[in-house]
Amino acid sequence: MGIKSILIVSGRGHAGHFLELLGSGSQFGLKFAYEVQEEAGGIAQALGLARDFIDSDKFAVMLGDNVFEDDLSDAFNEFSNSEKKAHVFLKEVVNPEHYGVARFEAGNVVEILEKPPVPPSSFAVTGCYLYSAEVFDQIKTLQPSARGELEITDVNDFYVKNREMSYSILDGFWGDCGESIDGLLEVAKYLQSNL
Ligand code: G1P
Repeated sequence: MGIKSILIVSGRGHAGHFLELLGSGSQFGLKFAYEVQEEAGGIAQALGLARDFIDSDKFAVMLGDNVFEDDLSDAFNEFSNSEKKAHVFLKEVVNPEHYGVARFEAGNVVEILEKPPVPPSSFAVTGCYLYSAEVFDQIKTLQPSARGELEITDVNDFYVKNREMSYSILDGFWGDCGESIDGLLEVAKYLQSNL
């Protein structure tokens, strides 16, 4: 995506491990900064911690446990030049009830639901999100969900309902290592045969 500057947000118990593993980012030609999320308050809360770090209008968020095969840079370039305020990447999966799920009407995404027991489609919302910096004001209005977290799905659903969300559908492999042991194994197998 051409991104050179990355803020790594992690929980208190693991922040030191990430720093030790990844360092300053110079070995990757990148610059890393670090922020600690003191409690398991949700992805949207973690994103809120990036407010002072973001110095451009458009930026990307990537969950550290997600692995993508697709090159996402075209979508990022398009989004950077568009009027939209948010962009999500969808992937067709066999177990959508384990993820955020898109609901479609007449070929458009009209709602995003978090882990619906009866999924309205098989398209999961993956853990890469593109936003405009306005998202930080949106996060301030969020209320914790039933699991006590500020949900990224509430942020995304807000932009869907405001018609300010665009989306792409991924063709390549996508895995979420944090979804289950099977999910972790699937990603490990993919990486073993593709790296
Ligand atoms: C989170 C999001 C969910 C998304 C998933 C992708 O799930 O809440 O909408 O589909 O990441 O990895 P969580 O890891 O919080 O269960």
